[in-house]
Amino acid sequence: MPSSRLSRRSAIHALGLATAWSISPLRAGLAAAATRDTPDFIDALVARMTLEEKAGQLTLMASAWGGDRAAGLNPPGGLSDFDKQIEDAVAGRLTGVFNGNGAAMALRLQSAVMERSRLKIPLIFAADVIHGHRTIFPIPVGEVASFEPELAQRTARAAAFEAAGAGIDWTFAPMVDIARDQRWGRAMEGAGEDVLLGRLFAAARVRGFQGDNLAADDAMMACAKHFAAYGAAEAGLDYSTADLSERTLREIYLPPFHAAFAAGCGTTMASFNEIAGVPSTANHWLLTDLLRGEWHFPGVVVSDYTGDMELIAHGVARDGRDAARLAFLAGVDMSMESDLYRLHLPGLVRDGHVPEAAVDRSVRRVLAMKAMVGLFDNPLRRIDPAREAARSRRPETMALAREAARKSIVMVRNQGGVLPLPRASRIALIGPFAAGPHDIIGGWSVYGDDAQGVDLATGLRAAGGHVTVVAGCAIDAPLPGGIAEAVAAARAADVVMLTVGESQDWSGEAQSRAEITVPQAQQQLAEAVAATGKPIVVVLKNGRALALSGAVRNAAAILVTWQLGSESGHAIAEVVYGDHGPQGRLPVSFPYESGQEPYHYDHKTTGRPQPPGPLQPYKAHYHDLPDAALFAFGHGLTYGKITYADLTMDRTTMPWDGTITVSARLTNHGARAAQEVAQLYIHDRVASITRPVRELKAFAKVALAAGETREVRFTLRRADLLFIGLGLTPTVEPGQFDVWIAPSAQDDGVHGTFELLQT
Ligand code: NOJ
Repeated sequence: MPSSRLSRRSAIHALGLATAWSISPLRAGLAAAATRDTPDFIDALVARMTLEEKAGQLTLMASAWGGDRAAGLNPPGGLSDFDKQIEDAVAGRLTGVFNGNGAAMALRLQSAVMERSRLKIPLIFAADVIHGHRTIFPIPVGEVASFEPELAQRTARAAAFEAAGAGIDWTFAPMVDIARDQRWGRAMEGAGEDVLLGRLFAAARVRGFQGDNLAADDAMMACAKHFAAYGAAEAGLDYSTADLSERTLREIYLPPFHAAFAAGCGTTMASFNEIAGVPSTANHWLLTDLLRGEWHFPGVVVSDYTGDMELIAHGVARDGRDAARLAFLAGVDMSMESDLYRLHLPGLVRDGHVPEAAVDRSVRRVLAMKAMVGLFDNPLRRIDPAREAARSRRPETMALAREAARKSIVMVRNQGGVLPLPRASRIALIGPFAAGPHDIIGGWSVYGDDAQGVDLATGLRAAGGHVTVVAGCAIDAPLPGGIAEAVAAARAADVVMLTVGESQDWSGEAQSRAEITVPQAQQQLAEAVAATGKPIVVVLKNGRALALSGAVRNAAAILVTWQLGSESGHAIAEVVYGDHGPQGRLPVSFPYESGQEPYHYDHKTTGRPQPPGPLQPYKAHYHDLPDAALFAFGHGLTYGKITYADLTMDRTTMPWDGTITVSARLTNHGARAAQEVAQLYIHDRVASITRPVRELKAFAKVALAAGETREVRFTLRRADLLFIGLGLTPTVEPGQFDVWIAPSAQDDGVHGTFELLQT
């Protein structure tokens, strides 16, 4: 098998990344700051700064304003006194604060700094604006189910409009960690298990947050996090060890970061985890050799919350001073929340352990970032309490929230066409998520308000539905008489809508689950209600893929609804009554059982694959389960009835520098219009490195009226066939490839083969 490697540079070019990166104005600005071309005023400022003031520019603390949900998520630690925080800022001990409480707070801090500080360097205001600010959009993994990166760009743009209106210059988003283990609660924050979706949504969200002009008062700096392999935590336990090959790192976990940087993302956050014994916060190879040396990233690396201090608990630093030294020398420019840089960097420089030139370089990067978001031109650019109120939850933003929520819903089963429901149906709406202002907006909504989320009962009633509501049980406990009341309501109804799943607090940071199942109390409720024989529509609440069983798994219809944000109830009602068809697709595989995790569709064949048919001895299979997903990656039904036919290729050999066009005919045999997501997968039959059974390379959303046939067409080129080869560089090898156009990773759709020819 002849092999031919592309150089890394040509491979990156082939992916179109280098071009985007090199023309990014942000890159130019940040790169200038990292070299001697720094704008004069930044150099002049650095020359006037004391070591203490330099360390201050590298120190970010939680806002001490406190008192709300943001403070609850990020306890302000020792700085519980806002007046003291103002004095720290005025004295140059702070670069800025995060997760504060809006324009009024920012105004007080910024005015004090601009009026009273020695150097008048504006503060930067950061926040976790993850899936909306005041208007809350679906949790990120849910939004990825839309398979519409452009939608994510629009919701990020809208979030930036609201958040920048509230004084926020910098968001700690997007989270671009690939999540292949659904026990890991932060799966909710990313783009799921697939690299292509990860790359496309990372770039889209960066473009949305940053807009066309980062200095505009409706744009904010993005932060691709968590660098890197945070999602590879062993057994899905948040913060835990990741131990993976450099190949997997480069092929699976790093590409979304690269895509974010290519889209102009100017900051990244070092991850909490270690990789193969080296915590990211102290990983010089990752943060400097790769990020700076290989990728030429010119922006700012911020630690995660006390990540530098945690080097002590990891067991690689002796004390706070040692931790600050390790983190800084590894490449962390800015320390979040530990205060270690402020306390120790000046001494480390004076004692010769840290070169002052390195401190200056990090300070220049931070000042350049402040310049790029327009703070030196106008420190109050984003700070205007009147504008904050005027931008909050505007009708057009709420309409976008409803569109995003609707498009994030995935219908994974619809036996007998039970959905959509006629409006006249008498619905027994049963389950702990049926009504009430909880578990609607999703876990990372720091500035969202539970009470403003539309619950399902309200949504169905507003749509003209006939609904009897019974909780039946609490999320994780029975309610006295709950099951009897639910059974009675089911008997009196035409159809049961059963809302079961997870609390929104069970996913997100530090929310790992060993069993990703529906809690027992809800399962018992489901079994009792199913025994009535009424048709059941499950409305699943989930921040990750769940392993469904019993009456939940066997329900006539199942809608995966994640946590959908402000407009949740209205959006679900629109789909349930068929005003809009479901169009979401699973960005994560739903396993049969928790024990399959980590499960991802793009696994390897192994040397002993189980052939189709009865189980054979000494093959790769479980005794008790198919080695497959219950609901596959990419799966999602519509109200149409779609068939795939006639895979056609314009040629069966792809020239080395050429393309191949693959098409198929999609027909909607149903009586209702549909939005089908056609997916193109490949499999490299023979390569020097084992290749996944399938890899998603392209997809397209196709609108099909009832009875309509349309052709869907994709173009593949050599760059689509890259993998990380034996020498750990992007590689393409000639040979045979399978290609499918299919409705999911587990569906045959239509299949063909082609050959890549080496010229
Ligand atoms: C810790 C989280 O890991 C990170 O994603 C977040 O941005 C910071 N806390 C600040 O809230």
